[in-house]
Amino acid sequence: DRTDDAHPPAADAVGAATFRRAWSDLAPVGRAPDGAGYHRFAWTRSDHTLREWFAGQAAARGLDLVTDRAGNQWAWWGDPDARPGVVTGSHLDSVPGGGAFDGPLGVVSAFAAYDVLRARGVRPGRPLGIASFVDEEGARFGVACAGSRLLTGALDPDRARGLRDADGTTMADALRAAGQDPSSLGPDPEALRRVGAFVELHVEQGRGLVHSGDPVGVGRMIWPHGRWRVELRGVANHAGTTPLADRRDPMLDLAAFVQHVRAAALDAGALATVGKVRVEPNGVNAIPSQVTAWLDVRAEDGSAVGDVLAALAAYAPAQESWTSATVLDADLADDVAAALGTAGLGSPRLGTGAGHDAGILAAAGVPTAMLFVRNPSGVSHAPAESADEADCLTGVDALAATLERLVTR
Ligand code: GLV
Ligand code: MN
Ligand code: MN
Ligand code: MN
Repeated sequence: DRTDDAHPPAADAVGAATFRRAWSDLAPVGRAPDGAGYHRFAWTRSDHTLREWFAGQAAARGLDLVTDRAGNQWAWWGDPDARPGVVTGSHLDSVPGGGAFDGPLGVVSAFAAYDVLRARGVRPGRPLGIASFVDEEGARFGVACAGSRLLTGALDPDRARGLRDADGTTMADALRAAGQDPSSLGPDPEALRRVGAFVELHVEQGRGLVHSGDPVGVGRMIWPHGRWRVELRGVANHAGTTPLADRRDPMLDLAAFVQHVRAAALDAGALATVGKVRVEPNGVNAIPSQVTAWLDVRAEDGSAVGDVLAALAAYAPAQESWTSATVLDADLADDVAAALGTAGLGSPRLGTGAGHDAGILAAAGVPTAMLFVRNPSGVSHAPAESADEADCLTGVDALAATLERLVTR
């Protein structure tokens, strides 16, 4: 299906070469030894390397590099202040122990698709932008899609500056250490106005495309999802001298909490996860004084998320981030499907329980579409996340066909 006449081989070869080069550039960045996955967190050294890489890719192509007030990076072909552009991209950060694809596949494919359009001699009637959103996973400071939320105003900059990582470093201090001015953090309506439409290509986080037998699919909706923080307090004391009856041990409360979370999720028909905890003082021979647990809840239906939270109300969960159900733009999805058709590809529609900057932009009124690339393992947020190179290159084709359609009319 990649051999039809709609694809001059020369342009395909250009896209493949860009893809392979970029993929090997990024492969070592933030990779833990022994197959322990990627650790690419906002405003760290690896993040800096990734930001420099993005800037270098923009410069090598003569694109205009813009960093918005939230720290998101944009590379523009054409002037988006003259007319809002078509933007594609994703994020370069990862969860702790993440896979190679969640995020980078969309950014690398964006540059590869751009090179395909140039090789085909496409003359866009609208500006084309490539975006890399900062801190999508929220792995360091707890708030998912922090960069796009700051951009749209969905995250208050004062709150963002005060968010702390596991070492107690605030986002403001992390920005300073990275050479950025934290006082510039804030909504950026001007940067947002330049985005006439957004298309995010992403590895599928599931096996829908494996089952349908398609290399790529089109996003239909993003499930509502949120993150909450629960504080469980106790009294620290000696592990060897404190009788069990005299303890106030918050680790026991954590065990009960995790069981309650699962029961509530089963009752509600939702997905709920406790994947991160902080134990203080975190000593092997001390009863903890405090355990902080982070709760992630999602469901296709937002009321099921509400049911889980209601069942856990006694724990007084504090909301860290929330995204309502996002129905992606139906007209844009039809455009994407039509473009895929011209490239000889099917276009199955997929919903996703994973969060994306696309959802934040859609909530801010930007017509948004997503393209998914088949993931044989179905695994994501873990090192087993995968995609075959042939499917990635089909994704580049699909993205190029989509962008060509959108920028030339
Ligand atoms: C981010 O990818 C999320 O879905 O948590
Ligand atoms: Mn992710
Ligand atoms: Mn992602
Ligand atoms: Mn995500």
